[in-house]
Amino acid sequence: MKKYFMLSVALLVLLASAKVMASDNAARTKVIEDIKAAFTGETTASAKYAAYAKKAKAEGYPKIALLFEAASKSESIHAGNHKAALEQLGEKAGEVTPKFEVKSTKENLEDAVKGETYEVTTMYPGFIKDANEANVSIALISFNYAYQTEQKHKVMYTNALKMLEEKKEKSMPSQYEVCTTCGNTYEGTAPARCGISMTPRDRFVTFQ
Ligand SMILES: [Fe+2]
Repeated sequence: MKKYFMLSVALLVLLASAKVMASDNAARTKVIEDIKAAFTGETTASAKYAAYAKKAKAEGYPKIALLFEAASKSESIHAGNHKAALEQLGEKAGEVTPKFEVKSTKENLEDAVKGETYEVTTMYPGFIKDANEANVSIALISFNYAYQTEQKHKVMYTNALKMLEEKKEKSMPSQYEVCTTCGNTYEGTAPARCGISMTPRDRFVTFQ
């Protein structure tokens, strides 16, 4: 009788641990899907902003073009980080064909504000929650770098739109510095160390 009892206990423990493993796997799979989605989003944003920069230049808004160029670089750093995170988890980032439409600079800025707002209010908070729950720290780092940077981009694009509407765009910053570790974007000169990733300033890229 005791033998049967012990056997049943062992079986229950086995079943419980199988269930935990299955939910761990599902959580990890969700994080991998999130990183792939973030990689696609950032690759598209980088290509889109580069195209918006050209359009802004053509329309005679060099200061707005500069902001788009700096943000394009920043998004490419996020895409690179997401790709590296996927590879570290034994996965591959697929080919991405960026899809976007170039309109007037005013509409392009409105689109940029919309995109950044979605990333900071919905996409990254959800992805960060998933990565936290699944305890996938490499994804958490990569998402956080992007999340913190996109909050700054949202403000910069919102200000740029306001400046354009008020015809004050000529007084916008004439320099940006972008951290090559996390994409953090500074108007003017960056501090000695990045405020997000502690990267020394000599590893920043300058746009002017
Ligand atoms: Fe951004």
